[in-house]
Amino acid sequence: MNTQLFFNVLFLLLFSSAQGVLAQDQPFDFSGADLDNGEEINEVCAGCHGAFGQGGKEGEYPRLAGLPPAYLAKQLLLFRERARPNLAMVEYVDHRQMPDEDIRDISAYLAAIELPSKLPPADESAPGFNAYERLLAAKRLVQIPRAPGDLKAGKRLYRRECAPCHGSKGQGKWTQGIPRLAGQYTQYLWRQIDRYLNGQRVHDENDPEELLREFNREELGDILAYLSVLDD
Ligand code: HEC
Ligand code: HEC
Repeated sequence: MNTQLFFNVLFLLLFSSAQGVLAQDQPFDFSGADLDNGEEINEVCAGCHGAFGQGGKEGEYPRLAGLPPAYLAKQLLLFRERARPNLAMVEYVDHRQMPDEDIRDISAYLAAIELPSKLPPADESAPGFNAYERLLAAKRLVQIPRAPGDLKAGKRLYRRECAPCHGSKGQGKWTQGIPRLAGQYTQYLWRQIDRYLNGQRVHDENDPEELLREFNREELGDILAYLSVLDD
């Protein structure tokens, strides 16, 4: 390649990646979100992610409820730009289907949904017991089954390596758009760890080494086991 061509290509690469970063870094003003529009959009999402964003099929469809709005919006932008693979969602996130305002509205709507991980105790024979209400409440319940692994080792690793960003209870960080990991399906988290390891997703732009590479499968499994009991 001659020098001129080399610099042209280099310039193009730098320029296009800088633009990509800019598009994702554009902050959304979630306080201006139209939650009614978000609720309407959610009718489409519900087909896979559930009516309350609770996810389904043991993590084939991730939980979306209660994730930070900035994180949800960033992922939707990445899907739209084809920078994060998601065949299932391809037809729902092109520019026509998902303009920026819709991304803002659906992200704010889903972020605000709270899902219980336990049902309050109930006495079915008590006079005020309402079986239908109980059934509705149970539909919102997300309780992650205990994943196999060493809880103690997982706790130690999680606290030291992951908690500074994902929070001491795996709740994520709202203002920094860091996703919760507790209350998310184990199978889904495994799939994403593999995506980070094989370069299909970027975990931390400031860490080209990829922190997750420092652990073997057993250690990662221990961390996921610990995360699976954080919502108990
Ligand atoms: C046809 C099924 C389907 C529909 C409809 C769908 N999704 Fe998804 N979505 C998926 C799948 C599958 C994944 C997980 C992809 C993966 O493994 O990386 C996903 C992942 C996501 C994620 C990433 C979650 C995370 O923790 O990183 C977000 C955000 C999301 N979807 C939002 C939406 C929204 C908003 C809608 C409605 C506009 C929607 N999805 C409609 C199948 C669907
Ligand atoms: C420097 C901060 C930081 C540290 C430390 C960190 N993470 Fe993350 N993590 C993030 C950010 C930011 C994201 C979202 C990145 C993106 O957009 O894909 C994320 C996303 C994830 C996801 C994907 C969640 C989803 O819903 O798709 C998993 C899984 C994950 N991290 C696991 C871990 C584990 C396990 C550790 C500890 C070994 C860890 N992370 C340590 C910042 C961090």
